[in-house]
Amino acid sequence: MSITGIKGMNDILPGEVETWQFLEVAARRVFALHGFSEIRVPVVEKTELFCRSIGETTDIVEKEMYSFCDKGGTSLTLRPEGTAAVMRAFIQHKLHALDPVAKLYYLGPMFRYERPQKGRYRQFHQIGAEAVGVDDPRIDAQILAMLQHFFDEIGLDDLDLQVNSLGCPQCRPLYRTQLVDFLETRLGDLCDDCRRRYTTNPLRVLDCKATGCGEATAAAPAMLDHLCEGCDEHFTAVRLHLEDIGARFTINRRMVRGLDYYTRTTFEMVTANLGAQNAVAAGGRYDGLVRQLGGPALPGIGFAMGVERLVLLMGEDRRAVQPPDIFLAALGDVAQRRVFSLMHDLQRRGVRAEIDYQGRSLKAQMRRADKLGAARVLIVGEDELTRGVGQLRNMGDSTQREVSLDELPRELGAK
Ligand code: HAM
Repeated sequence: MSITGIKGMNDILPGEVETWQFLEVAARRVFALHGFSEIRVPVVEKTELFCRSIGETTDIVEKEMYSFCDKGGTSLTLRPEGTAAVMRAFIQHKLHALDPVAKLYYLGPMFRYERPQKGRYRQFHQIGAEAVGVDDPRIDAQILAMLQHFFDEIGLDDLDLQVNSLGCPQCRPLYRTQLVDFLETRLGDLCDDCRRRYTTNPLRVLDCKATGCGEATAAAPAMLDHLCEGCDEHFTAVRLHLEDIGARFTINRRMVRGLDYYTRTTFEMVTANLGAQNAVAAGGRYDGLVRQLGGPALPGIGFAMGVERLVLLMGEDRRAVQPPDIFLAALGDVAQRRVFSLMHDLQRRGVRAEIDYQGRSLKAQMRRADKLGAARVLIVGEDELTRGVGQLRNMGDSTQREVSLDELPRELGAK
């Protein structure tokens, strides 16, 4: 029996990978315009890093981490997200000493043991960005603007950017107490999960997908009405800057996030086209995280997009496999040798050239050139070879003319 891949972990095959590459190139281009540099961190970290940052009572830490002990007995975890690992690297390499603002981005696989379904996988990929060192609301607006800039670049414009503020360690505990008091009056209507977590993680109850919980908490108090003066001013300024640049957004007073490190501005880019997995990108501020991980007291804000979800949304607007510029069809052993070195030369000069490897008939070679979508075919038989020429056929209009083999690179506009 053959061995198959792991459930919820996908292979990305040619035909699909071109869309991935398109998204990656667009992200790199847009992020660079906003002054972000790439950072690459390992896919495995000490388990403690994620427990301390994401939070012990979150779904991710409670149920979804791929954790194991290495041969030295250290508990390690496949990263379930990028922010914690990037902050670990930021602190370890003292990046704050180099520049008061660190703007970093990353791409790569993340791992969560979730129930796989469309748009939700156990190995998935994020493209994320983090800005550390600035609490000015302009950076919040810039991060959101950068996200929208990216979505505009890739041609996805029917997304809803929802924004909220989750307060800070000064105002959130007071709000939390009020929320717990409110939930206590509705316990009978909550699902088992929420009855269990309403004291440990009451905000998550607002995000519960069970219909009973949604109805029971419809009148729950909102964090936005309980922000302290500092958080209120900050959020007002974020909205103002977003309006100044004409950003499209809505306020979602019920939005909470599944990770504990968030403070103040939080946001999600939501689509109506992916069923339950409606968040294509999400993020927010995490002003206490760097400190909590043993670094200096520096604020931060960032987001991550789910690449699989982006690819699903791109739908028909896929990037195709690049067809060859020319297919070199050869007849006979000597012509095959000549064509092989011609291919080598063309490729080094920037032309996508293909040959046949099976010594097949001209008809079969033409069929293959057609299947590959080659724009042109060069036919070299023994007679042509002795004269140092080939028949250059344009596959679009089926015209054909003789060209000198030495002149071919120039004919094709090669370097
Ligand atoms: P998150 O909301 O857990 O936030 O994930 C961000 C995005 O990753 C989601 O909106 C979704 O598109 C994608 N995603 C998450 N889980 C899965 C999955 N199982 N399958 C497919 N896609 C998934 C974070 O991870 C934060 N680190 C974001 C952030 C960066 N906050 C501040 N900086």
